[in-house]
Amino acid sequence: MEQVDFLVVGAGIAGLSAANCLSRLGSVVVVTKEELAESNTAYAQGGIAVAMGGDEDVALHLEDTMSAGDGLVNREAAAMLVEQGPQRVEELLAWGTKFDRENGELMRTREGAHSLPRILHANGDATGKEIAVSLLRHVREVDSIELMEWTTGVDLLVENGRVTGATLLDGEGGVRVVRAKAVLLASGGAGQVYSDTTNPAVATGDGIAMAYRAGAEVSDMEFYQFHPTAFSAPGAPRFLMSEALRGEGAYLVNAKGERFMERYHRLLELAPRDVVARAITREGMDGEVYLDMRHVKKDLQARFPGISRFLAQYRLDLGRDLIPVRPAAHYMMGGVRTDVHGRTSLPGLYAAGEVACTGVHGANRLASNSLLEGLVFGVLAAEAVIADGNERKVDGQRADGDLAVDRAASGGSSVTGEAATERWIAELRSLMWKYAGLLRDAEGLRQAQRGLDALAVTMPRGIFRRALEARNLHVVAGLIVTSALGREESRGAHYRNDFPERNTVARHSAMRAGELTFVS
Ligand code: SIN
Repeated sequence: MEQVDFLVVGAGIAGLSAANCLSRLGSVVVVTKEELAESNTAYAQGGIAVAMGGDEDVALHLEDTMSAGDGLVNREAAAMLVEQGPQRVEELLAWGTKFDRENGELMRTREGAHSLPRILHANGDATGKEIAVSLLRHVREVDSIELMEWTTGVDLLVENGRVTGATLLDGEGGVRVVRAKAVLLASGGAGQVYSDTTNPAVATGDGIAMAYRAGAEVSDMEFYQFHPTAFSAPGAPRFLMSEALRGEGAYLVNAKGERFMERYHRLLELAPRDVVARAITREGMDGEVYLDMRHVKKDLQARFPGISRFLAQYRLDLGRDLIPVRPAAHYMMGGVRTDVHGRTSLPGLYAAGEVACTGVHGANRLASNSLLEGLVFGVLAAEAVIADGNERKVDGQRADGDLAVDRAASGGSSVTGEAATERWIAELRSLMWKYAGLLRDAEGLRQAQRGLDALAVTMPRGIFRRALEARNLHVVAGLIVTSALGREESRGAHYRNDFPERNTVARHSAMRAGELTFVS
């Protein structure tokens, strides 16, 4: 058993920002499942939305965030995001983050549902990577922060209703018990719950599942954002074709070569993401949908070097070819329910970034608000940890988390072996894509529920990473399906074919210990 002051699970933008802040008060351990560079943060292409242009810009950023969220945004959270964003980005600049500039001025681009160009980018389309590298460079210099790679969170330790640490699986397969005054989840999203996703393999919803098993409340799990434009070619990865392509003028065209967005939204290709994703799905029923930049007179290779390199493998060029695209799972708006300071429903447990649900995105996140969310709420959650004192005495008792490890180790009729585990996971992901994806209805969601019940019988068990991930994906899938069935309306990213209208009363879903409720 090890003892630290603060345990941070996840080393993306939220985790590193939080760790940096917490290190002022004590020892911090940051754990991450793979190398430090492998997080959703590092894959973010388009950029970071931030209102650096003064009060009017801040007010407009707030209104854009509110309207993208389709009536369900927590205004207090959104105000904190847009008001504190500029200060946090100034810190990044001071730590050496190099955003792209023109004549010395920060370059700003526009993306869907933004009323102004306010997205900063770095190295063209590698913004997340640049931020991750500069944050890492900064925290590596802090003595009180220990960065632990190849370490997977297994379960939270809970004593007398309070989170007191976590069990972890290290790279050699050993289980470690780490006690902490507070645990901060910053473990990112869960795109791997769907067969088609832009997310890296690490995005298996571990933090949400750990928190839920420990008894924390989760919220808005039916709101999963599908990015409209992931690359679409047989056998190719669902590589993100950044929204910034449309920000720089790309059209969407259908198999007949016609632009179609005028039939769906007045903002055309820059409509909110959920609208564009559904439009592409509908048009895609009659053939491929493409991004078309052939009319854009810019050096597209220089503006989008990463995307251009990827496309070159398929002999495609942004300036010359139509690029086939279709939606893919991208971002979880729901998550562990927190207040605007990252406090969850369990004392001792905090959450920030994609794993958390402050309500800042409502039913649909505004493009490029996610890096800003990690940055702002990572710091706010760390400040709450500090403000709350968290002076718990460690008494060495066995805690619930230890028992959860034992339970996970027991066999039953579970599948065993690497190949069977991968097949089990693939089945879950296809089931979710087919029945709980972009367009839903009660019949399909019930089919998903039955499929998940059947998969529960053969769930891979044991203390190895893929079995733990399988277990976590199953929890997250169940939460999405139950919440999606319960929300009998269409709002933002949640579209029910059988309930196509929006209810007049906006309420958040909340799940705890198998119970679904709706709260304002
Ligand atoms: C993109 O570049 O389109 C992704 C940015 C985001 O998800 O906000």
